[in-house]
Amino acid sequence: YHVDWDLVTAEKAGFDHFMLKEIYEQPKAYRDTMLGRIAEDGKSVNLKELTMTADYVKSIRKVHIVACGTAYHAGMVGKTVIESLARIPVETDVASEYRYRSPIITPDTLVIVVSQSGETADTLAALREAQRNGARVLAITNVVGSSVAREADDVLVTWAGPEIAVASTKAYTSQLIAFYLFGLHLATILGTKDEATVTGLIAAMNELPEQVESILENAPVLKQVAESISHHKSLFFIGRGVDYAVAQEGSLKLKEISYIHSEAYAAGELKHGTLALIEDGIPVIALVTQEELYEKTLSNIKEVKARGAHVFGLANAGSEAEVGKSVDELFAIPKTLPLLAPALSVVPLQLISYYASLALGHDVDKPRNLAKSVTVE
Ligand code: G6P
Repeated sequence: YHVDWDLVTAEKAGFDHFMLKEIYEQPKAYRDTMLGRIAEDGKSVNLKELTMTADYVKSIRKVHIVACGTAYHAGMVGKTVIESLARIPVETDVASEYRYRSPIITPDTLVIVVSQSGETADTLAALREAQRNGARVLAITNVVGSSVAREADDVLVTWAGPEIAVASTKAYTSQLIAFYLFGLHLATILGTKDEATVTGLIAAMNELPEQVESILENAPVLKQVAESISHHKSLFFIGRGVDYAVAQEGSLKLKEISYIHSEAYAAGELKHGTLALIEDGIPVIALVTQEELYEKTLSNIKEVKARGAHVFGLANAGSEAEVGKSVDELFAIPKTLPLLAPALSVVPLQLISYYASLALGHDVDKPRNLAKSVTVE
């Protein structure tokens, strides 16, 4: 009797790839990132690791979020979260651009750097530049003791656990959780949201892990979508508001591991150029989770449908009747608050990328030309 195994197989815990394992670890990553940070009565968050004082928080006039790759996409959601919960203006920048555009960094600017590894050279350099200009830096990172964690003034650790696959999944979603927690922390100090809103958001956050589990149960449907997409050379992701931020992450994920070209577009911007590329049969993945924007997004879906696109819609459960008739296929996402939708809607996109890469026979965990952590500029 001979058991053939090695450490890597053992570490994959029965999954074919690290990426798939990490996608399935997200419910746990959400729970672990929230653990101990939410008061037992569910009425407030408690980020006791932060050393910034309430007076300091009240002095913040603007926030800069700086990151690379997937972490940058988390930062795009983070902008909406902080602006809507704390009403502080936020700019989100790619770290390799930030330093070279002479950003206006003042002592009343809070700079948030987001980095799974905490070792990305451009992000670390942005952190140093911010501190040189007298700004306080908060790091959102997955690695305790990383360079970014050591040099930042404050650290919010995402408890996603080690991420091995080059394509980031659970690190990204835990970064979203960290932004929700920090946004609520700011809102509580600044009094920008009433107790009912805070309590409602916390209750909805607590439901996210189980909602992700229910999305994962539908993986076979997403596998079919992925297989049909894998025959195409190019496709589009569209959305508005935070749906647009998630569209960008979905598009990046697909490109990274399946090498299928795709573009993410703000749904309302299509008609200013990209619509020219919509031709018969082209797949369009439309995110429709923001109730306030339904009507607008649905009219953009009609624009692409009229040009022959095959539209795969990701929409809230309960909106099937409204959205269903405008799309060719619909995948329902459990209902949550609009601000929290990215923590759910990105999961089907991760699975689509995974299965598309698999269908095309690529090395899912180690895509060509990419590194997990980029420590050169
Ligand atoms: C590399 C990885 C990306 C990642 C980016 C930022 O390019 O391939 O997946 O998003 O670095 O990494 P960080 O560790 O700073 O989040």
